[in-house]
Order: sequence, then C-alpha cells, then structure tokens
Amino acid sequence: MTSNKFYITTPLYYVNDLPHIGHSYTNIAVDTLARYKKLSGYDVFLLTGTDEHGQKVERAALDNNENPQELADRVVVKFKDLWKCLNINYNYFIRTTEKKHIQAVQGLFLKLFQKGDIYLGKYEGWYCTPCETYLTEKQLIDSKNCPSCGRTTEWLAEESYFFKMSKYEDRLLKHIEDNPTFIQPETKKNEIINIIKSGLKDLSITRTSFEWGVRVPLNKDSHHVIYVWFDALLNYITGIGYFSDEENFKKYWPTDVHIIGKDILKFHAIIWPTILMAADIELPKKIFAHGWWTVDGKKMSKSLGNVVDPYQVINKVGVDVYRYFLLREVPFGLDGNFSYQSLINRLNSDLANDLGNLFSRTLTMVEKYFQGLVPKPCKEDDKELRVLASEVIKSIDINMNNLNFSQALDNIWSLIQYCNKFIDTEAPWKLAKDPKAKDRLATVIYNLLEGLRFISILINPFMPETSKKMYKQLGIEVNAELQNLKSIKHWGGIMPNAKISKMENLFPRI
Ligand code: MSP
Repeated sequence: MTSNKFYITTPLYYVNDLPHIGHSYTNIAVDTLARYKKLSGYDVFLLTGTDEHGQKVERAALDNNENPQELADRVVVKFKDLWKCLNINYNYFIRTTEKKHIQAVQGLFLKLFQKGDIYLGKYEGWYCTPCETYLTEKQLIDSKNCPSCGRTTEWLAEESYFFKMSKYEDRLLKHIEDNPTFIQPETKKNEIINIIKSGLKDLSITRTSFEWGVRVPLNKDSHHVIYVWFDALLNYITGIGYFSDEENFKKYWPTDVHIIGKDILKFHAIIWPTILMAADIELPKKIFAHGWWTVDGKKMSKSLGNVVDPYQVINKVGVDVYRYFLLREVPFGLDGNFSYQSLINRLNSDLANDLGNLFSRTLTMVEKYFQGLVPKPCKEDDKELRVLASEVIKSIDINMNNLNFSQALDNIWSLIQYCNKFIDTEAPWKLAKDPKAKDRLATVIYNLLEGLRFISILINPFMPETSKKMYKQLGIEVNAELQNLKSIKHWGGIMPNAKISKMENLFPRI
C-alpha cells in the first residue's frame, strides 16, 4: 500500500432512472475532492459506475419491452455522457453486469459459504421492490406501505441464503467507537449506532422470485440470484481489482472515503463493513453521507414532475457555475433546496461580482499601466495579503479533508474579497497619476496578480475550466501549475515581464 494514495468512490447509480441533479451532486463532490488530492500530490483512484441488477431494473425493462441488459446498455450511456459533460475525471467506471465483477461476487459468496458465514434458510416478510429491501411488520406505515418511499410492499416467502450479519454486531460497534470519524456526519453516525444496538439480524442475500442478478455459484441452487445490495456493494473492491488484479487492489484498498447520500447510509455503514469483516478485508477509512436536494422544498419525483435535469441548468449557466453552486450553497451533509433564483444570485454576486470583477479589473490595469506585461515588484510589501494567502491554504486543507466544501470555498472567497478591498484602498488609478508612486504601483499590481494566481489554483478542483481560463490569461503554463499545489506556497510564482492576455469575462452576469 502506498502511503500517498487516495481511493474515493461514488455510489453506483441504478439504471432504471436517468441521472438528475441529486446524482450529479455526489459525483461533483467526489470529483472535486479527487482533484484536490491530486493537486496535493496524491496518487488518486476515483471509482464510479452503475448498479444494473435486481428486480427494480428487471421490471423497468419489462415495462419498456426490452430485456434488462438492453436497458442497462442504453442508460449507462446517459450517465457516462453526463459525467463527461461535468468534467468528472474517473479512473474506472464499473458496471455490475461486467464479467470480472460477477466472478468476484460469486467468488466471495463461495468463500463466505465455505466459512459458514453464509447458510441456507427460509425468508418470509414484507418486501419493498423500489427500495429492494425487506421490512418488518413494525416498520410498515398503515400496515402495508414502505416507510422510506411510501409505496405498497408485498409479502414474499422464499428459500434464501443468509449472511450471518449478527455475528459481527459487537465487532462493528467497537470499530465505530474506536474510529470516531468512520461514519460522518456525527448525527448520522448516532442513528447507525442506535440501529446496531437494537440488534442485527442475519441478512437474506438471495432471491428466487426473479431472475435478473448474479447467480449463486452452487449447482443445486443456481436459480437463486444474489441480493442486489450484496452484489452492488462489492463493486468497491471489484472495481479496483479484487479477484482480478490483486496488485492494484493492494495498492488502493482500503477506501479513503465512500461518499454516498444519506438514504443509503445503513447499507454502507452496517451491511458493507460486516461483509468485509467476514471476508477478512480491512474496512474503509471513512463513509460520508451527504444530504438531499429538494425542489421548492419537495422531494424530486417523476410524479410531481419536478425533477431537475442537469443539462437544463448547464445550458443556462455553464458547467463550472453548476459545480460551484452545488458545493457552495449547502454545507455537505445537510439538505438543500434547489432554485434558479439562488443559482443566479450566486452567479451574479460571488462569481461575476467578486471573482470576475477582481480578475478583469486587475488585468485591465496591467494593460493600461504596464502594456500588458507583469510588472516587477520593488519590495516585499503587503505582508497582510501574503499571510492571508498562506492561512487560506491551510484552512482549505483542513476543510477539504473534512469534506467541508462550502467552508473551503468560503476560505477562497475571503482571499478574493481581500484583494477587491486591496484595490479600493490602494487606488492604483491614483498611484498611476503620481510619478513618485511608480514603484508602489508595480508592487500593488504584481501582488494582485500573484493573489490571482493563488486563487486560480485553489479554485481548480471546484471549477477546472474557469481555473484554466485564468491561468491562460495570467500567462501561466497550465500543466506546470496543475501538477502540484506546493507551487503556490511561495509568493512570487508569476514572472515579471510575462505577457498577460486579457480575454472574455469569466462569468457573464444573468
Ligand atoms: N444503487 C444504489 C446504490 C448502490 S451503492 C453500492 C442507489 N442508487 S440510486 O441511483 O438510487 O441513488 C444513488 C445516489 O443518488 C444515492 O447516494 C442517493 O442518495 C443519491 N440521490 C438520489 N436523489 C438525490 C437527491 N435528490 N439529492 C441528493 N442525492 C440524491 O441507491
């Protein structure tokens, strides 16, 4: 295991639905953190993909007169296209229908069966197909509906293989206690602890009532298909080579952080770690459950017709504004409400006014007072600005490592706001009229350009396209700067006499 590796994952998205802003939220957050870690010098592996098995997908395909594989093949393209459009830089896209995943799921099933942690039994209970989950009588709403999605459950009775989850109850509790940041945020962690303390039952992990899934690898029972969650969760190890590329697996495992939505935390914080314990595999370092986006305060749903299509938003404001908005508007971990009004407010005030203006004002002054060439600073002046810049870098690192994206952006904006004020108080237009202030003018403009260089690198993980536009106009070589965040630790990276090339506004106002 390399010590500076960083392995990060997204959930696998069901292919019975098209991607919406909720899905894109997770992938943008994961991509942003991955980019930040890369800039910090880590060897990063980002895994994403699609969850293609199970009754829900089978039924969706049937409703559409196609077979489930055709449906998956069609929808997977929609996810891949959206990730491309949003600049999501993944290392591997796993599909649960791919051979190497299926073989590994079967291999692990056999391993746990031989160990006695999987056994044959009988299952009876209320089943919610949309959520792919069994429910107890007590959990039902109005004695028949699913507490999570509200839809009607059905009574299922079937022979089933069980995973001995109960065996790992104490070990899991102890692990959570010994590793305080294993489950985040804190409030969600307490919910999980309460569930475990109320007692873990063995988990039914095969079905015989439908066909679309990974077959149980035992001849007499190959009509059983493996529970879609047992199948899908394993992607986090199969996607980096468990059973197929042990070297890569050893290099990246354990996951540094699984980022998921709050609705699927139970599966990740209870079922997943107990499977890993049974398989003698180290546990992930962290599981972080983010909040949900609502629209006008309501859950997005096809029936309400309020599902927000990411392309519609991108067509209005562009990819970077969309990425920025989702991560800035709401602290990661809390729920947020999507509205075009708040999106446009953010665009006009934070992006066009604060950042866009700072950039164009500064470049205009370089053109006006220095013929478009970076001036040579005269003294090491403006200590406050340098100190602030280095403090901002430290705070960002803490916030990014805690997945506090909105706070990290706040840190960057404190530097942007300082620079804007710096222009107002230094009033370069006055210095320009005073022949004795030539040196001071050069220093002020140089320090502003250097501040902008810092900013352009710091925003890179959040808004990669804008960041590159800024480098280009600042005359910085893109690749050199992208390689390492360390380069911004030293004030003075912009070379005097470099050519500034002012182009279009970074963010046109709406
Ligand atoms: N297939 C499972 C995950 C298996 S992971 C091994 C699944 N898929 S899903 O497509 O239904 O949801 C994927 C993710 O999208 C979840 O993390 C879920 O929380 C997230 N979101 C779905 N709607 C959302 C919002 N409205 N807002 C934010 N995230 C949301 O669950």
